[in-house]
Amino acid sequence: MDLSNFFSSRQKRIDCYMSELLEELPFQSSSLLSAMKYGVLLGGKRIRPILMYIIGEIFKVDLHIIDVLASSVEFIHAYSLIHDDLPSLDGDLLRRGKDACHVKFGESTAILAGNSLQCLAFNILSNLNVTEVSDSKKIRIISELSKASGVTGMCIGQFLDLESKNKTIKLHELEKIYWYKTGFLINSAIRLVLIVSCKCKKRIFFALEEYSKNISFAFQIKDDILDFKSDICRVQPCLSSNQCFKGNTFPLIIGLEHSKKKLIKLYEEALMYLKILSDECVDIKLLEQLAFYIITRNK
Ligand code: IPE
Ligand code: IPE
Ligand code: MG
Ligand code: MG
Repeated sequence: MDLSNFFSSRQKRIDCYMSELLEELPFQSSSLLSAMKYGVLLGGKRIRPILMYIIGEIFKVDLHIIDVLASSVEFIHAYSLIHDDLPSLDGDLLRRGKDACHVKFGESTAILAGNSLQCLAFNILSNLNVTEVSDSKKIRIISELSKASGVTGMCIGQFLDLESKNKTIKLHELEKIYWYKTGFLINSAIRLVLIVSCKCKKRIFFALEEYSKNISFAFQIKDDILDFKSDICRVQPCLSSNQCFKGNTFPLIIGLEHSKKKLIKLYEEALMYLKILSDECVDIKLLEQLAFYIITRNK
């Protein structure tokens, strides 16, 4: 199967699974539930779930287990985007080409929708009762995801990102912010599957970690390049309003052309680590295609 078939089949699968989970919740007629569904189900490329299905396929992890793990990561991701757009964070009005959650449902509902999605992520993990996932593995999974989401991962990244707005920062500081705000969750997505599988040699684990670092970094730079191209404020950033000034990004610090070069370099490095995997007889085809998709995507 090539990536586009794999992508569309797994996208449908995860969308369906997450929709069922959300439909099972109480208070269906409340705007809190509508906001949660809006934040999760309307659009979204499902990159993290796709990566998890690919790793699951490689290590022969049961699909249903990946459904649960991937939904938990995607719920955290959706919550992070809802909060990221709030007026007190990035102050963005649009998400995925539509009204941001707080624009459509109001700020308080959007905050609570994000909080509820975060809790839901950990709740579905704690309810995962299958023989392949022992209680101790379940605790490791919950520990891993909470570490990647909070002050040791995404949240501190978001904090450092906001703190760096209106300041000139060095490239290595920006790299650190990217790693925390975006890289940790992508890395964790792989780790969750590996905790279940347990079959992975140290060398394979190392190569996958390095692959994920390179693609997550590339993913955020590509995001910045796409934002940079569509951002009419870029010529004269308006420092007084967070609706206008996007903060420090790769294209703003090193320029668009250098950012594109960096993207290619990260892609090549990701492929280099995949070579280690293929030497260990791992089928890397989909991981290779995913890395290519990440640097060439248009949205
Ligand atoms: C956007 O993430 C924010 C970043 C972490 C760069 P995605 O590009 O994965 O967002 P969706 O879910 O596909 O909209
Ligand atoms: C979003 O980063 C990262 C998280 C939500 C953790 P950005 O703020 O750079 O992404 P977009 O451009 O809003 O999607
Ligand atoms: Mg942000
Ligand atoms: Mg943002």
